[in-house]
Amino acid sequence: MDDTPQVDPDYAEEVRRLAVERDALILAHNYQVPEIQDVAHHVGDSLQLARLAAASTASTIVLCGVHFMAESAKLLAPDRTVLIPDLGAGCSLADTITADQLREWKAEHPGAVVVSYVNTSAAVKAETDICCTSSNAVDVVNSIPAEREVLFLPDQFLGAHVQRETGRTNMHIWMGECHVHAAISGDQLVRRVKELPDAELLIHPECGCATSALYLAGEGVVPESHTHILSTGGMLTKARQLGSATVLVATETGMLHQLRKANPLADFQPVNPKADCKYMKMITPDALLRSLRENVFEVTIDADVAVRARRSVERMVELGGAPVPA
Ligand code: 13P
Ligand code: SF4
Repeated sequence: MDDTPQVDPDYAEEVRRLAVERDALILAHNYQVPEIQDVAHHVGDSLQLARLAAASTASTIVLCGVHFMAESAKLLAPDRTVLIPDLGAGCSLADTITADQLREWKAEHPGAVVVSYVNTSAAVKAETDICCTSSNAVDVVNSIPAEREVLFLPDQFLGAHVQRETGRTNMHIWMGECHVHAAISGDQLVRRVKELPDAELLIHPECGCATSALYLAGEGVVPESHTHILSTGGMLTKARQLGSATVLVATETGMLHQLRKANPLADFQPVNPKADCKYMKMITPDALLRSLRENVFEVTIDADVAVRARRSVERMVELGGAPVPA
């Protein structure tokens, strides 16, 4: 059951009124606070939000998420105004690699295909051949001819997951991590599974426990058939199929709101109840209202960077992937 308080109807009405006035589409990531998720026009994972931005005809897109997501929206909808309600909403994972570092890495592996997770700056995307998100990373790497070396960045846990799924041996992985997901450990997962041995497990591939989960499943410590490594959008699809199960969720806690809405019969519990992304939580209801009222904060990308970065995001979107949420 979702016990989240209902969103204030006056606030919701004001947001929707301002959105109409500004011809704005409000997109929210699955980790946003419930008050933002519940007033947004669409809620989704990072690939779904990028595709929604590309498909939209609204003159303004308000991206309630972190900065790289707003940049992706701007890359795919360059003629639109893209706003983020707080410019400080960054991403510790995106910060683990700069464009200079990537250029140096590429120089060490001439001819390699660069695959960047969308959790990267536009400047890093400009040095990238094709982007991926957690929902399509395996497909993206599989689309690259087997004989080509791959540089995969910046998340080491997602990289390990992709390597396992594709069986690829010529793939080099950048050792970055997200502080929120790295803090969801294999030990915590095992402890929670011992408390709830029949629980289904929904695990984001960025988690520190994702690598251990499949190893533990192989060892029989956690049940293999109950272990699902999925993007935030994939978790929602799975949640709808789980009936009244008990479900352990290994990702940022904002996800629980959408999961409980998607399946009110199931009992969703966080593996780590402290897994909060402070950047995602910078987008408050007041910040969203201000963004709509004052037309702030506009996301811009240097034209030269944008041309090159757009190519890598467009290649990803062309490969298809997660369905766009209703
Ligand atoms: P998704 O692509 O699964 O939405 O994840 C984005 C993200 O930032 C995870 O921390
Ligand atoms: Fe970045 Fe981690 Fe926050 Fe996702 S949860 S936005 S990867 S810091």
